[in-house]
Amino acid sequence: MLVLENIKYSKNSNNIINGISMKFEEGKIYGIVGNNGVGKSTIGYIIMGLSDYKVNDGRIILDNEDITQMPVNERAKKGIALLWQEPARFEGITVKNYLTLNKKIPVQDVEEALSLVNLEPDKYLNRFVDKKLSGGERKKVELASCILLKPKYLIMDEPDSGIDIMSLDMIIKIVDYLKKRGTGVIVITHRKEIAIQSEYSYLICAGKVFLEGTSDKIVKYYEKTCDTCGHINYAEEN
Ligand SMILES: Nc1ncnc2c1ncn2[C@@H]1O[C@H](COP(=O)(O)OP(=O)(O)O)[C@@H](O)[C@H]1O
Ligand SMILES: [Mg+2]
Repeated sequence: MLVLENIKYSKNSNNIINGISMKFEEGKIYGIVGNNGVGKSTIGYIIMGLSDYKVNDGRIILDNEDITQMPVNERAKKGIALLWQEPARFEGITVKNYLTLNKKIPVQDVEEALSLVNLEPDKYLNRFVDKKLSGGERKKVELASCILLKPKYLIMDEPDSGIDIMSLDMIIKIVDYLKKRGTGVIVITHRKEIAIQSEYSYLICAGKVFLEGTSDKIVKYYEKTCDTCGHINYAEEN
């Protein structure tokens, strides 16, 4: 189990996360929804432990171990992974080498992961991960790399952004595949189609959990209320 206990985070004296508590279990799908700027990506970075995202208060507990002070590389070793909203840019390395970096991963596994993200292995294995790959193709390569990591928990930050709408089904299929393999999938999303797939969702507003519960309830509320809500999500000043 991965638990956030009353997490607070501020940057430049702006309170961005204002006491958030969440719980995630392996083998389940979770949604984090909310308007732009409410703190969704920040929550993802805090869970991953990125160096700029040390919390001011609260604890992060992974399988009964306090990992609040643990750096990103150690959290990665413990099985936490993050799919970035914007895919990373690497130059001069092939898709195959990128996906097998420092690891002995059988080529069949790489081919399977590429097929899952709708990239034909024959066409892509020896392509270079560079500017000639489109943003969508790079994002799919990142998605394949998250599949190969076999994480305990995967945070997916807006997994459909930068990918064509046709790929929505692919993302839904992969989230389901990861769940069945035992990964706890934490999906940050605006998309109803993706949020509705999760078993439990958190609606974030102004750095707080505004509402939580079954995804159909949360998605309904979000659609009905947040689209037209005039609430401005400026972070509160200290
Ligand atoms: N490095 C930073 N410095 C100052 N403010 C930031 C920083 N990163 C994010 N913010 C602010 O924190 C709030 C939450 O951002 P973010 O987590 O990216 O929101 P979301 O992912 O929900 O759109 C926003 O108001 C944003 O402007
Ligand atoms: Mg974001």
